[in-house]
Amino acid sequence: MGFKRGVFSCCFCVVFAVFLLNSCFLVIGGDIVHQDNVAPHRPGCNNNFVLVKVPTWVNGNEVTQFVGLGARFGPTLESKEKRANQTRLAFADPPDCCSMPRNKLTGEAILVHRGNCSFTTKAKVAEAAGASAIIIINNQTELFKMVCDPGESDVDIGIPAVMLPQDAGTSLIEFLRNSSTVSVQMYSPKRPTVDVAEVFLWLMSVVTILCASYWSAWSAREAAIEQDKFLKDGSDDYGGKEVTHSGGVLDINTTSALLFVVVASCFLIMLYKLMSFWFIEVLVVLFCIGGVEGLQTCLVTVLS
Ligand SMILES: *[C@@H]1O[C@H](CO)[C@@H](O)[C@H](O)[C@H]1NC(C)=O
Ligand SMILES: *[C@@H]1O[C@H](CO)[C@@H](O)[C@H](O)[C@H]1NC(C)=O
Ligand SMILES: *[C@@H]1O[C@H](CO)[C@@H](O)[C@H](O)[C@H]1NC(C)=O
Ligand SMILES: *[C@@H]1O[C@H](CO)[C@@H](O)[C@H](O)[C@H]1NC(C)=O
Repeated sequence: MGFKRGVFSCCFCVVFAVFLLNSCFLVIGGDIVHQDNVAPHRPGCNNNFVLVKVPTWVNGNEVTQFVGLGARFGPTLESKEKRANQTRLAFADPPDCCSMPRNKLTGEAILVHRGNCSFTTKAKVAEAAGASAIIIINNQTELFKMVCDPGESDVDIGIPAVMLPQDAGTSLIEFLRNSSTVSVQMYSPKRPTVDVAEVFLWLMSVVTILCASYWSAWSAREAAIEQDKFLKDGSDDYGGKEVTHSGGVLDINTTSALLFVVVASCFLIMLYKLMSFWFIEVLVVLFCIGGVEGLQTCLVTVLS
């Protein structure tokens, strides 16, 4: 009986691990749309922070694809790669794009450095200079959320703005130095309503649960048959009773396993809908407690 419970706890432990992994995947998957309430929302400045893919062509050949982050301001980007225009890229002169660039622009995307003035100032200057989009290179390897300044009252920017990490910017500048034409495309793919990876992980946990309950049911039946054989010599009545008792144990195990699947699925859906930071923290703590407890039972079973 103690052994059976131990085995079942072990399986629970595995499932907890799977769900912890699942929540990790959700956190990563949730990276596509950042929705923070700290940055001010105003008309013309209320875009979601979306991930932007920037495929790059050098002399007509596609060489690489960078990943950047959209800004709070400006028009939203095309979501389909096919519909996004391929535009030539030009490096701003001066590179900070805080004053009117000296180079002539005719609808190119302009590449600028971060710093010296606000993001919206850069975008306004670039738009006035005739750029069709602005790509701002961060001064760090991470991405940065471009928001409007608290003091700005009327933000009306007509070109999309994208932030790229420092290494991507360095590569682009090198491409521009080395070759005659560099062009880019910008689009932000929509997040699928149901993630394939999530469905797969969910199936994995359900299969684990089913295997666990089948396994414990099977071992319980084995034990019951053993006991039955052993007790046949003594008293028939007693043996019969024991078998029905084991059946009761099986039922409870299967029901609780099914219940666990249902509850865990509801939890996952809640996690998906309520993608909030504290909820994930609470879940991680709960999973840790569950995992440690399961591990302890696991070790006790294995060692005894
Ligand atoms: C692509 O270019 C065409 C023609 O220049 C323009 O009308 C259209 O708005 C552009 N599309 C996007 C998504 O920028
Ligand atoms: C900011 O302005 C200073 C002085 O004009 C210049 O030296 C510096 O390179 C600029 N910073 C960036 C990031 O362009
Ligand atoms: C990056 O630029 C911002 C804005 O100019 C500045 O506040 C920050 O210190 C810079 N960070 C680094 C690592 O240079
Ligand atoms: C640019 O040219 C230099 C020297 O010609 C070369 O070392 C470097 O690898 C080139 N970079 C790219 C991205 O082609």
